[in-house]
Amino acid sequence: MGGYVAIASAGGQRVAPLIVDALRRLRFLGSDCAGLATCEGGKLYVRKDRGWVEEVDQRLGLSQLPGSVGVGHTRFSTHGRPHSDNAHPHTGCGKRLAVAGDGSIANYEELRDELTISGHKLVSRSDFEVLAHVAEEELLRTGSIVEAVRSSVRRARGFYSAAFLDPSREVVALVTTWRPIYVGEGSGVYAASNSISGLFGIARSFAEVRRGEIALVSRSGIEVLDLETLKPVRKSFELLKMDPQLVEKEGFEHHMLREINEVPYAIRRLLSSIQSRFLSFAARLVTASRSLYIVADGTSLHAGYVASYYLTELAGVSPIVVSAAEFPLYHVENVGPGTVVLAISQSGETGDVIRSVYEAKLRGATILGITNYVGSRLANLSNLYLPLAAGPELAVPATKTFVNTLALLYLLSLYAGVELGKVGRSEVEDGSRRLEALAESLETAIPKLDREAESVAKELSRCRSGYVISRGITYPIALEGALKLKEASYMHAEGMEAGEFLHGPVVLVEKGFFTLFIVPVERVAARATYPLIASSYEKGATVATIGFSDDPELDSVPGGKLLVPRVDRHLAPIAFSVPLQLVAYRLGRIRGCPIDTPKYLTKFVTQ
Ligand code: F6R
Repeated sequence: MGGYVAIASAGGQRVAPLIVDALRRLRFLGSDCAGLATCEGGKLYVRKDRGWVEEVDQRLGLSQLPGSVGVGHTRFSTHGRPHSDNAHPHTGCGKRLAVAGDGSIANYEELRDELTISGHKLVSRSDFEVLAHVAEEELLRTGSIVEAVRSSVRRARGFYSAAFLDPSREVVALVTTWRPIYVGEGSGVYAASNSISGLFGIARSFAEVRRGEIALVSRSGIEVLDLETLKPVRKSFELLKMDPQLVEKEGFEHHMLREINEVPYAIRRLLSSIQSRFLSFAARLVTASRSLYIVADGTSLHAGYVASYYLTELAGVSPIVVSAAEFPLYHVENVGPGTVVLAISQSGETGDVIRSVYEAKLRGATILGITNYVGSRLANLSNLYLPLAAGPELAVPATKTFVNTLALLYLLSLYAGVELGKVGRSEVEDGSRRLEALAESLETAIPKLDREAESVAKELSRCRSGYVISRGITYPIALEGALKLKEASYMHAEGMEAGEFLHGPVVLVEKGFFTLFIVPVERVAARATYPLIASSYEKGATVATIGFSDDPELDSVPGGKLLVPRVDRHLAPIAFSVPLQLVAYRLGRIRGCPIDTPKYLTKFVTQ
């Protein structure tokens, strides 16, 4: 996955410097490989390597490439580690076209096998390489780039968009199965990108190209066709207005807000990139283990706590969940062959996690890693790792990586359940479908939740401290909510198990204190929680509640509300974490906090 920009110059100017410059603004979409393909006189030029676009440009002279039509890419690795072979753009065996894209190809392994059997030589582990081979085969057969793209989209399933450069016709064809592609017109240039930020400084006006359409960008202009009928689609272009300060955050004020808004896409990316054969291997490791430890820190540890509910309920496996800071101190003595350590670290670089993994490996344990960075130390040390595929997360407070960790652990637990005969195979498919439905409903719900979060945050801003309270499978989300509030808004908050509330903590509840309840999804626990909400309110506390929008009990509950569409019980931790992240963000903004870079914190703690 990553960011791409395609440019055609009407006057025949070289486009390479423009493309390289545009890619610099897309760091938030990826920065571990960069590449560029251009064409001149029917010849294709491709240069690409590992590293940030500026480094690769210096090393390989990307901006020196000839040609007035081209496409460049900056990559975030999900399939295949950061490596020149895995960098986009990809070419087919005959180097007749080049492809760069974003998202992921769900049936990549299948297509790779089919192509290899039919004689194609694939040189990378990047899923997008298959598109280049499929499209090239069709281009050679039909002579039409449109047919080539149509055939690729028919064969490649998943959530992705891609740009195909055909050097013989000097045209870039673009297509999407998920997020829109932006096409834009500037003075003497036509451009396209998977991010509006990719057009900044190049295009004066832009239009969106959606699923079911194909855009053709060439020196003579931009044409959009219906992918089925091939009839032209008229697009009305609007003025591209963007605050230059916000371009590198795609128009959002903070990376944290951009990343929360990206949650639905992050979930889809995970669903389309996760390979079931690796999930099956991982599930076999988990279920065959003599003892299973889940080891992580901070937000990832909270995801680990949720996983203990998933694994216990769906697979009948009870892991020991332990902070990576504690694991080497007192658990390691019980570790040996037959132990599986499920190490979770979105960065893959957290010092405690790496130390835990070293110690466990020395004693013969098997390491199953979960990380967002496939080039990280955790990925390297793991016997098997599963990528989160959330895309780069630049804000220090983890949001979309947390959501994807939960989604991945849910899928892993379902696979483990299948291994042990606790759940049927159809449950796995249902689970993926439920996650997809959740992504869709969040996409619609986030703007409304953000408004609700803003008004709850206003109330919370009058308090000095508070509790985030829940019970059952959403209890770890209360811990996570309290952590997010501290990091993003410098508000003291404590995550609390609702059953413990009356055993002491209630004494602090009064005016100037807040209680933020997450209604438990277990019916008995929910019934026991409503009276706590009412009594907190009576004691003068600022009260807010997160629950399902169709819960009739919430009508009579006092205080602010954040209501999410109902989901299956196992997905409630995911659905409820989004409004909590938004409250933390909005409160941080009200309090003027440096939300993306809280003091004393870095994206990963290597000590
Ligand atoms: C919270 C946060 C930290 C990290 C923790 C572990 O928003 O980001 O609590 O979760 O430092 O980081 P990873 O997952 O990279 O090991």
